[in-house]
This record gives sequence, C-alpha cells and structure tokens, in this order.
Amino acid sequence: MNDPIVARSGECRVIAIDGPAAAGKGTLARRLAATLGLPYLDTGLLYRATGRRVLDAGGDPADPFTATEAARALTQTDLGRTDLRGPVADAAAAQVAAIPGVRAALLDFQRSFGPTGAVLDGRDIGTVVFPNAAVKLFVTASLPARAQRRWLELTAKGTPASLDEVTDDMRARDAMDAARTAAPLLQAPDATLIDTTDMGPDEAFSVALAKVREMLA
Ligand code: DC
Repeated sequence: MNDPIVARSGECRVIAIDGPAAAGKGTLARRLAATLGLPYLDTGLLYRATGRRVLDAGGDPADPFTATEAARALTQTDLGRTDLRGPVADAAAAQVAAIPGVRAALLDFQRSFGPTGAVLDGRDIGTVVFPNAAVKLFVTASLPARAQRRWLELTAKGTPASLDEVTDDMRARDAMDAARTAAPLLQAPDATLIDTTDMGPDEAFSVALAKVREMLA
C-alpha cells in the first residue's frame, strides 16, 4: 500500500523519529510505516543486539574495542533475538551506544535504508544518520508519563518492578543518552516536536500523520 504522497517525494523519503525511551516513538513509527507502505527500522535494536553480543562473549559493554568489534560483526539474525529487552539489555545498550566506534560501525546499516525510503526511530536519526530526512519528528513525554507507561508494560508482562525503580532507571538512561559526547539525544532544529504526555497512541498517530502529509505535500 504505497502512499502517493510518499512516492512523489523521490530521494528524500526518510521519516526520522527521535526522542527518549517510552515516549511512544516505536508505536508511532510502526504505524506510520504500515500506513505509508515504507520499511521500518527500530535502531535501538542495533545497540541492544551489540550489547548482547558483548555480554554473550563475557565482555564489558563499556569497553570500546570489544563493543566496536561486536557492532561490526552484527548480523540480521542478532536483531531477531528475543532477549533484547529488559534491564540487563537496557543497560548494555546504553553503554555501547556511548562509544563512537560502535555508532560509526552501525551507520552504514542504517543508511542503507535511505534510497528506498523508510521510517527509522532512535536518538540521532534526524541529527546524524539522516540529517537531510524529508520529515523529522521529535517525540517526547514527561518523565512520569514515560515511566508509568514502561511500568505498565513490565507489569503486563509479569515482570516485577516498582514505579520508583522504573522512574530512576529511566532518569539514569535519559541522562546517559543526553550527556554522551557521541551523538547525544538532541532535537534537530528542523524537527517537529510532538509531546505525547497527554495523548493516547491514536491521537499521537493522527498528529504525526498530518505533519508527514504536510511536509511531503
Ligand atoms: O530506543 P531503545 O530504548 O531501544 O534504545 C536502546 C539504547 O540505544 C538507548 O540507550 C539509546 C540507544 N540508542 C541510540 O543511542 N541511538 C539510536 N539511534 C537508538 C538507540
């Protein structure tokens, strides 16, 4: 189901969606991709899978050499692993994501989506990976709203966690994403801000789709 608006826009068919954890980027990106007939890449999986590879080998995810080698060796199969979520994977992903060599090793994989057009979500898609993306959205929400969403997800999966723990964890990950020198989490100057604190997924989707159509018209 190719959207004619997207098809007309030629070269610049990348929709970049950045923002902090649990802001609703993934759900939004997946729905936009399905509606517009574009492939979708959750770039957080690349960092998660890299962290996992390091842990599997008994290595330290904060070690630049080991982590960069793991990023270079990443295969499509790694992205399909079922153990890429949860606190251990979260922490390892945040550590490898701070390493410039890891980020450089993962760039080509992400950029290979450019020519065909795609929706990518992450932290640096509109700032580093596709600075010329046709559409850039920065999706955020307050820390309490994001922590509450993550806590509900964990509770629904039967993973025991307290809301305070989840909030502290998220605050720490936000700080790591924002403070690292390599591609920190930043809103690109030309990105449209969507604050989902008081929005459900349907409202966030219609706001984003309207913006995409406006930008690509
Ligand atoms: O979106 P996520 O929680 O799955 O991301 C996992 C980690 O990877 C998180 O610490 C942020 C980092 N990340 C990044 O630095 N750049 C991206 N494009 C995507 C994720």
